[in-house]
Amino acid sequence: MKKFTIGAALLSMMFTGINAQSLKSPDGKFEANFQLKNGVPFYSLKYNGNVVVEDSKLGLRLFKDSSIKFASEIAKPEDASFDLNNGFTKTAEKRDSKNETWQPILGEKKNYINDYNELAVTLNQTSSDRSIVIKFRLFNDGLGFRYEFPQQKNLNYFVIREEDSEIDFPTDMKAWWIVADYDSQEYQYQTTKISEIPTQWPKAFDSNASQTLIKNAVQSPLMLKKEGKEPLYVNVGEAAVLDYPASHLEVDAQNFKFKTHLTADRQGAKGYIQTPSTTPWRTIIVSPKAEVVMDSKMMFNLNEPTKYKDTSYIKPTKYMGVWWEMIIGKSQWAYSTAENVHIGKTDFSKLTPNGKHAANNTKVKEYIDFASANGFQGLLIEGWNTGWEDWFGHSKEFVFDFITPYPDFDLKMLNDYAHSKNVDLIMHHETSGSASNYERWSDDAFKLMNKYGYKSVKTGYVGDIIPRGEHHYSQWTINHYYRIVEKANDYKIMVNSHESVRPGGESRTYPNYISAEAARGTEYEAFGGNKPDHQTILPFTRWMGGSMDYTPGIFQTKLDYYFPGDKRFVQTTLAKQLALYVVMYMPLQMAADLPENYAKHMDAFQFIKDVAADWDDTKILSAEPGDYIHTARKAKGTENWFVGGVTDENPRDYTVDFSFLDKGKKYEATVYEDGKDADYITNPQSYKIYKKTVDSKTKLPIHLVRSGGYAISLKPIK
Ligand code: NOJ
Ligand code: CA
Repeated sequence: MKKFTIGAALLSMMFTGINAQSLKSPDGKFEANFQLKNGVPFYSLKYNGNVVVEDSKLGLRLFKDSSIKFASEIAKPEDASFDLNNGFTKTAEKRDSKNETWQPILGEKKNYINDYNELAVTLNQTSSDRSIVIKFRLFNDGLGFRYEFPQQKNLNYFVIREEDSEIDFPTDMKAWWIVADYDSQEYQYQTTKISEIPTQWPKAFDSNASQTLIKNAVQSPLMLKKEGKEPLYVNVGEAAVLDYPASHLEVDAQNFKFKTHLTADRQGAKGYIQTPSTTPWRTIIVSPKAEVVMDSKMMFNLNEPTKYKDTSYIKPTKYMGVWWEMIIGKSQWAYSTAENVHIGKTDFSKLTPNGKHAANNTKVKEYIDFASANGFQGLLIEGWNTGWEDWFGHSKEFVFDFITPYPDFDLKMLNDYAHSKNVDLIMHHETSGSASNYERWSDDAFKLMNKYGYKSVKTGYVGDIIPRGEHHYSQWTINHYYRIVEKANDYKIMVNSHESVRPGGESRTYPNYISAEAARGTEYEAFGGNKPDHQTILPFTRWMGGSMDYTPGIFQTKLDYYFPGDKRFVQTTLAKQLALYVVMYMPLQMAADLPENYAKHMDAFQFIKDVAADWDDTKILSAEPGDYIHTARKAKGTENWFVGGVTDENPRDYTVDFSFLDKGKKYEATVYEDGKDADYITNPQSYKIYKKTVDSKTKLPIHLVRSGGYAISLKPIK
């Protein structure tokens, strides 16, 4: 238990009485308090009168000089006189509020509501005569705060040593977390108490192509639950992470306290700032209902509206891909048997083909035929360009040029063929982490895309980042991702990035950044598996700030089908794969399996063909992190609804209550559910499909087997 003395309580009450600024949420349920204690800023948060966050310290530590001579500066001891965390007096206080409704270009609902009260306190550090602003926004679903650095004589340029924003919880809570890392989020979730994180941490990761772990720290968004008679769900995250490193959360397990830990560059610097400037928002979403937390749009609300003039090219896209067959090892990205190739020098037509290159004219045409016949707008093709022979693990800066196809991939012919069948090819730009090389080639690459009519690109950052010493989540690399996204907008191209930083609602500002991976996706089912509760946690964590390219839809879940004796398998039933299309919000939505596997189950495939990718409404019907999620969504511009539900390793019964439907209207429901004898290990492909007429009064019982699920499509009966 936490140490707490009456003296401390009295003292803090006294401070609150004398010195504090209080802020209420529009509905009056939340109260945030700000105060200076001996010149040090603190905040706290209450919900319905109960403390959610105890007095927690705020501030930043800085390096002495803005023009750092690195090796020497880093080695110097810290000097508190440069820090922005002490010696403050309050010089101004400003209040504001907003209640607006805005429309995301692509989204889970037609309207997002941005309703908050704001408090901005200006603090002056007398000794250095520098002022900063700490801004709080209190919404009906929680708190956001950030630091602002106005331009001023004594604060023009500085380098951050660390941001020390604390979140101090009064009690031990259940936590769904992954280990913190400067380079990867592709980890399995752990479910422990906050107090157990340090013991579990060393067992909580496997290896990754690029990995810089931070001991006893976890990633955000972090999902927490105060258990008991009056449960409270809390989500800790960050929003608008721009021109700043992504942050992690250091754990103080004795005190149930977290503190920001920014991603460093190789010198240990954590953000180069020129004023005026602002940090990302720290977010704390709170509700007694898990569904409300999952449904929160706070992270998006804390981002700026887009300045893009033309967003007409940004469209929801359903796609297939020449992809899964490489992920499982049936085919290859590389064309030849060579082990050492030089972009611009090697004559690939002279190399010996390895016989396993999937991105070849014949195969791509077959995929186009299948995607077209089934109404998909897009087809991703990986391994189309030269360089895959030695693409990874050699710290090779000039690894791809993104414009030269392999000899067996006819760029013009295949694009013409695809367009003649109403399919757009989706470009693939794997950078191998060599972001500097990608910046060098991106204009040429996007011009090529415009020339042949590509509308979207999947980028990727497997391996350590070049410039060497930068990390996937350091400030330079984050700026890189958005430079590419802005450039893509110049060329009217949508971007889906893999291995990039997780989103914090930035798609409000950059709506062509329609998806990202930035978590452990379906590919890991072939690299060691995702636990059955994985998909019941992601929507509470990774998804809070933006959609994920999860690449679901695997029907042939057992890989011994391809490789006799192979033990790998996708750890869900087939019906659960269908449910993911509703439970996971994906405006860029992949049907990831091979055409031949869909051809064998065209009845189940029908759901993937029908399901929408852009929505007018979303209702989280029932959800508990780590256990289950049931979601209903209304397709954009239609009266069609879709429902999906998933469970973890436990079988469950659930009754779908259709009261969200229009009263008095009848709908034809097509239900796809686990077969009676289905089991994600022994019998994953057992499902049943039936039709039923339903209305807003219908209650439909459904059985989900372990790691199972169901999907329902609803069309009004005219
Ligand atoms: C990792 C990505 O997540 C995956 O989708 C892609 O196929 C490979 N990198 C190769 O680029
Ligand atoms: Ca990946």
